[in-house]
Amino acid sequence: MGSSRAEAKRRHHRTRPDRAPTADAARPPAPATPLLHRAAVGLLLYLCVVAALGGGSSRLPPELLRAEAVDAVLDTHTMLHVGGPHRGGTTLLSDLLEAHPLVHGLGAPENGIGSRSAGVGGTKGPLNEGIFLQSVFPRFGLAMGPVEIAYRTVTGTLRQNGTGWGAYAYAPTAHLTEANETGLLTDVSRRQLMTEWGRKWACLNLSELNSTISSLGDEVAKPERQPRTVLLEKSPTNIMMWRFLEALWRLPSRSTRPGGRTARLDVKFLFISRHPLAVAAAQRSWADASHLSVHQLVEHWIYQQETLAADIHARTDASTLRVHFEQLADDPIGTLIRVFVWLGIEDETSAREAATTVLQKVPVKGGTNLKYHSQFCASLARDGCVAYNRMIDALEPSVLKTGYSLREWGSSCKVACAAQNRFDTK
Ligand SMILES: *[C@@H]1O[C@H](CO)[C@@H](O)[C@H](O)[C@H]1NC(C)=O
Ligand SMILES: *[C@@H]1O[C@H](CO)[C@@H](O)[C@H](O)[C@H]1NC(C)=O
Ligand SMILES: *[C@@H]1O[C@H](CO)[C@@H](O)[C@H](O)[C@H]1NC(C)=O
Ligand SMILES: *[C@@H]1O[C@H](CO)[C@@H](O)[C@H](O)[C@H]1NC(C)=O
Repeated sequence: MGSSRAEAKRRHHRTRPDRAPTADAARPPAPATPLLHRAAVGLLLYLCVVAALGGGSSRLPPELLRAEAVDAVLDTHTMLHVGGPHRGGTTLLSDLLEAHPLVHGLGAPENGIGSRSAGVGGTKGPLNEGIFLQSVFPRFGLAMGPVEIAYRTVTGTLRQNGTGWGAYAYAPTAHLTEANETGLLTDVSRRQLMTEWGRKWACLNLSELNSTISSLGDEVAKPERQPRTVLLEKSPTNIMMWRFLEALWRLPSRSTRPGGRTARLDVKFLFISRHPLAVAAAQRSWADASHLSVHQLVEHWIYQQETLAADIHARTDASTLRVHFEQLADDPIGTLIRVFVWLGIEDETSAREAATTVLQKVPVKGGTNLKYHSQFCASLARDGCVAYNRMIDALEPSVLKTGYSLREWGSSCKVACAAQNRFDTK
């Protein structure tokens, strides 16, 4: 049996070279030089696009930290990942936290504060988000350069579902958990992510850590008196993939001893949410989502909130905290006290003073949604209530579960959509 299969295989191989020329002979002879020329130009263009898309950087960085160095960072710091819908307050919240002396953000110089330090050497605006400073997981076209925009325009993938602020969460690879959906839960990912982000946390000296740490395996955990330094990473997309990050940092590494390291890990996730109509209005005013309707953007917002609620429910053992942008704007001191105490960097007695100091550096304006609310009322007056009432019918039950209300926003406008709603539904 075995020999007849081998014989068949040999026959198959023998027939191949015989057939190939006949197939080629049927074709008209191709002009050799232009074809080569085109192939070369095509290859060059392809390589340019790949390089511009960051394809080159998806290779491993040449010098990964040793697993022991990653462990050493994780054992001695609090990891804080901030997430929430785009334009939902993640930047303000991170800037506030980074104004605390124990909290270090990505891409900020030693004395800078996140996106506010753009002028003095920090990374500009949303580009200090962790997702753009790594090459381990995908970026969903969230910050396209001109070449990527051109490439996506040509290939028709510019505005596909799963790309950009208004639809990224629908991408099949956006929701990542400890179930290892995309095979990224590996020791190499863990070292690569810490190497890439670690370079951007100004308080870490990676080369020193990498060369001096031998092994923490035998070390008995010492009781800590000092609060830990917090390494803050902000990406709105963390709302969808925080369970993956949690699992990645907790992966057993080579230096792990039975019953060892994980007890020393302190990984925290802070989520901020904001009224969906404010988020939708803010997103639509930027090119990333201007092609989507308010209805679609609210749907996407709901999708993220429902995923988050289910994930928190599934992982009650994880350290998570949720705040609302509206709450932060109305009562910044109270909200910051809550966050500082949860982070373990202040106690109940010291937190108020710390919050006051932080707010002197990063002021918080009240009435955060006013601008978008009046825009919304103006659009009702201009376009009528039909689309809005349809949205309420379809989405209000889901929005109510998150503590917000679409109807409430409309009811404080001068346009009487409720009356029209009754009329419409007849
Ligand atoms: C860390 O140390 C390893 C082994 O000594 C080395 O190969 C690697 O390049 C170092 N990485 C960094 C970021 O210093
Ligand atoms: C995008 O895909 C999701 C999930 O497949 C779907 O629910 C949603 O309606 C789609 N959105 C658009 C604009 O096609
Ligand atoms: C995740 O998947 C990758 C690729 O299949 C595998 O190498 C790795 O061991 C998996 N990680 C875990 C924690 O199972
Ligand atoms: C990091 O530590 C090394 C070795 O101790 C030292 O030579 C280097 O200057 C340090 N780098 C920074 C930026 O402090």
